[in-house]
Amino acid sequence: MTRIRLLAAVAAFVMPVAAVAAGPVLMHRDPGCPCCEKWAQQVKAQFGRAVRVVDDANRPTFMKARGVPADLASCHTAIIDGMTFEGHVPIADMKRALATHPKGVTGLAVAGMPMGSPGMEMPGMTAQPYNVVAFGPGGQRVFAHHGG
Ligand code: CU
Ligand code: CU
Repeated sequence: MTRIRLLAAVAAFVMPVAAVAAGPVLMHRDPGCPCCEKWAQQVKAQFGRAVRVVDDANRPTFMKARGVPADLASCHTAIIDGMTFEGHVPIADMKRALATHPKGVTGLAVAGMPMGSPGMEMPGMTAQPYNVVAFGPGGQRVFAHHGG
């Protein structure tokens, strides 16, 4: 075995495939918005991936480019493995969408900022029921319902 082939074999052995494939999560947020940061921390912890936070004063343009319907707008837009996640989407729902890739769906959204959604946990405040909406070329449909 040549020296280079030996090094390649060692590298393949040392680095798990998933670690090579999983790049950082990209998140555009409304500049300075703190609840995005809290949501990003949960993504980081539960996906085990870094989150690159971009303060984007023109986020609606980014949303539009990613096909997020304007009526589903929240405070941040994240990209993970080609799928788009708008707002405070629960991590379990994101993992389900990424694992199953439902037909006609390019992303999930939680419109607004419902109290009690991930990153919006506020002690003393009543949790609000909310829908996770799937969107894409197939239109919009309720993907999950939480609370209430
Ligand atoms: Cu928010
Ligand atoms: Cu926010």
